Amino acid sequence: MEFETVILGAGAAGLMCAAHAGPNVLLIDHARAPGEKIRISGGGRCNFTNLHAGPGNFLSRNPHFAKSALARYTQWDFLDLVQRHDIAWHEKTLGQLFCDGSARQIIAMLMAELDRAGATLWLQTALRDLRKTETGFALSLDREGTRREVGCKTLVLATGGKSIPKMGATGLAYDIAAQFDLPVTETRPALVPLTFPDGRFSDLSGVSLAARLSNQHASFDEALLFTHRGLSGPAVLQLSSYWREGEDITVNLAPDLALRDILRNQRQREGRRQLGTELSRHLPARLVQHLSTRLNLSERLADQSDKALDALVAALSDWRLTPGGSEGYRTAEVTLGGIDTAALSSKTMQAQSVPGLYAIGEAVDVTGWLGGYNFQWAWSSGHAAGTAIATHR
Ligand code: FDA
Repeated sequence: MEFETVILGAGAAGLMCAAHAGPNVLLIDHARAPGEKIRISGGGRCNFTNLHAGPGNFLSRNPHFAKSALARYTQWDFLDLVQRHDIAWHEKTLGQLFCDGSARQIIAMLMAELDRAGATLWLQTALRDLRKTETGFALSLDREGTRREVGCKTLVLATGGKSIPKMGATGLAYDIAAQFDLPVTETRPALVPLTFPDGRFSDLSGVSLAARLSNQHASFDEALLFTHRGLSGPAVLQLSSYWREGEDITVNLAPDLALRDILRNQRQREGRRQLGTELSRHLPARLVQHLSTRLNLSERLADQSDKALDALVAALSDWRLTPGGSEGYRTAEVTLGGIDTAALSSKTMQAQSVPGLYAIGEAVDVTGWLGGYNFQWAWSSGHAAGTAIATHR
């Protein structure tokens, strides 16, 4: 069978691309259903974009690469699409937009756009072999146990990254990139909880608070969650994208409190109060208990010198930790790194050295922050490739 365009991967980017790539498009996925990560995203409500999305919210070897696609299909364009499909939404926090109802509405919307464009979707279809031909590409497919030979002029890699193999994530896009001599930057799990093999926070499991997590590369003010294995929550997931094995992170447990002034004032007013009792008014009690022995929190406020109080504030606002590792691809929301942007056109997502081959979405070395940015990259890059394919056919 001959198609103009074959798109590998019916996830966020592939669905968006298929809706814009013009006629005679085949979209292939080995999963039973399209957009599985959309379905489970945002706790089932899909954080589908972010009002503040801009190039500064993305990591890539070339920080300028994402600019063009993000500018040509913005968060406002996607929001407009959502509204045209009568999907109710709300802003949760920090510009993050979620469905009021279900993430399935976003999948249904993209499927409706796919149908409108007349694209064909083959699910439970695996790629067995791929060759370059004079006019394009030849694919050997296994569709529900039946061998299918398919030819196309244009091939789009939209199979995402390696995160959550249980959900069908594979490194197929990287393998195909290697087959066509496209460089792939180092890939690693990102937006992932950090672990401490000694289980030092297991007594704190479930405790959360607003904190500032930082290292020499970045700083995030968001929620921090202690788990049996270590640290999680938005602030940790964000910083994990900027962390490497062996590096320290710094936790500020009270970024919004003038703790120094509070403790000095309370020393005057409530001098007989224990440090731990006072701190429990501002921080979770279990956390204060956990820190109690190390920081001598059973001592009375009145017995503290200015220097001692300053040292305590420093210990709480500059808590240095060295994570042992991360939870890895098993729970990582995304894969950092991917097909090197140096090999792609930032306008069309087409490979510079292989005419007709495109790469979009998470497969590419563009990784967003937590908060709807990764879907926005999927929509923007999918749209960039789709419109380029439709225009140049
Ligand atoms: P995506 O992974 O969506 O799609 C790839 C498709 O290719 C899949 O359908 C897969 O089955 C298919 N495929 C893979 N290998 C294949 C093979 N060998 N053969 C055939 N098909 C193959 N982002 C965000 O912005 N807001 C959010 O709320 C969330 N929430 C979230 C929760 C969880 C639990 C995860 C794991 C991730 C998120 N994300 C997110 C990240 C977001 O889901 C992700 O960045 C996008 O889905 C990437 O879109 P892609 O289309 O590039 O890949």
